[in-house]
Amino acid sequence: MEFYDVVRKRRSYRVYKPDIPEEDKINRILEAARLAPTWANKQGMEYIVVKDPETVKRVWNAVGQSQKFVEAPMFIVGIISESGSGSNSNGIKYFPLDCGICFEHLILAATAEGLATCWIGWFNETKIQEILDIPKKFRVLALTPLGYPVKEKGEVKDRKPLEEIVHFDKF
Ligand SMILES: Cc1cc2nc3c(=O)[nH]c(=O)nc-3n(C[C@H](O)[C@H](O)[C@H](O)COP(=O)(O)O)c2cc1C
Repeated sequence: MEFYDVVRKRRSYRVYKPDIPEEDKINRILEAARLAPTWANKQGMEYIVVKDPETVKRVWNAVGQSQKFVEAPMFIVGIISESGSGSNSNGIKYFPLDCGICFEHLILAATAEGLATCWIGWFNETKIQEILDIPKKFRVLALTPLGYPVKEKGEVKDRKPLEEIVHFDKF
């Protein structure tokens, strides 16, 4: 799929078919995340691919938004530690940014593969850490269900116009 089509077609899907996506598709989207840039190329992001049906159910429970979702058959969970990234001269820590960049690569690649995702930022982190045996130093910053959409959504529309958000030369 052409890059700008991918960007337009990426939407947050909350209703999924029960079929698990093919292994080669999953591998390609993880590869897209692997190639993402990170602070000083520290590559601190790691991923947990969750397919075991019982574990998937427990992760949905830790997300706790079941009223909004028809549950996907699997998840990809992104984790990173503070020490897996760096900070700038103003003391701003970059691990959330590294996570965002890598995970958006993954999300866009999933879109290119015809798969449905939804960035999920609202979940019980402690529960996810426990369920997935994640070592304490890692923060869980992003996760997405992964599957096939029941119904394709339209392209992204509800965004501010460029005139509202772009400044030329000065604010
Ligand atoms: C960092 C982040 C966290 C999000 N967390 C949630 C979430 O917990 N639950 C949810 O239903 N959607 C979540 N979303 C999806 C947004 O609501 C969605 O991206 C936004 O409304 C725009 O819609 P679109 O993705 O279909 O273009 C999240 C999106 C981002 C980028």
